Amino acid sequence: MTRLSINLNKVALIRNARGGNLPNLEQVAIDCEKFGAQGITVHPRPDERHITFADLPKLKALVQTEFNIEGNPTPHFMDLVLKNKPHQCTLVPDDPSQLTSDHGWNTIEHEAFLTEIVSELKAAGIRTSLFVDPEGKMVEGAKKVGADRIELYTGDYAHDFSKDKYTAVKPFTEAALVANQIGIGINAGHDLNLDNLKFFKENIPNLLEVSIGQALISDALYYGLYNTVQLYLRELR
Ligand code: PXP
Repeated sequence: MTRLSINLNKVALIRNARGGNLPNLEQVAIDCEKFGAQGITVHPRPDERHITFADLPKLKALVQTEFNIEGNPTPHFMDLVLKNKPHQCTLVPDDPSQLTSDHGWNTIEHEAFLTEIVSELKAAGIRTSLFVDPEGKMVEGAKKVGADRIELYTGDYAHDFSKDKYTAVKPFTEAALVANQIGIGINAGHDLNLDNLKFFKENIPNLLEVSIGQALISDALYYGLYNTVQLYLRELR
């Protein structure tokens, strides 16, 4: 089974545009779970442009499924994660000014740093996932630093899907085979949507979780949140 974790950054972004509490992020998280989502993901960035630091303990208190916090492990981010103890922490090498994550870790170059961070999270009982591009060496590096899972960065897959979906998915299938061989779990995310999700799932053996935000929240404008969650769950069945 592949779990659907809904990324709520875009809900927070709309809320922050007016400075009030509409839409109510906590209620949306509760409803996503009620409608069938198996996880809630947030990616607090240093400028708090969408998820704020104050959102974290509120979400931690109410999420019943899996709470996943993503981000670049700066000292401040690590402090937030260790205080709020999510079930999973996904480490992403993004720059503070970056619009969105667009590449994975070089797990070989950053081996010493990642080993230290992963062991700190492990000691706190938090499962750790490393955002990586679909390259066997990076997957092996993630295993070497002690990560429990990788999250495959699927931006390139989504971009190339309409040109040739078979070519687009190939490096991801190959990376997944490496991950399965060496015994590290597989998550995936970025730009997954109702067109490209099913084919991705079908071609990734043992895909444990996808985290989806932008497309899912956009689809909810047309179909409503309940229907949209059902549509995504159907693709993952
Ligand atoms: N995974 C990571 C590491 C991300 O940074 C994001 C975007 O915040 C996602 C998954 C979800 O991507 P999208 O919003 O395109 O579904």
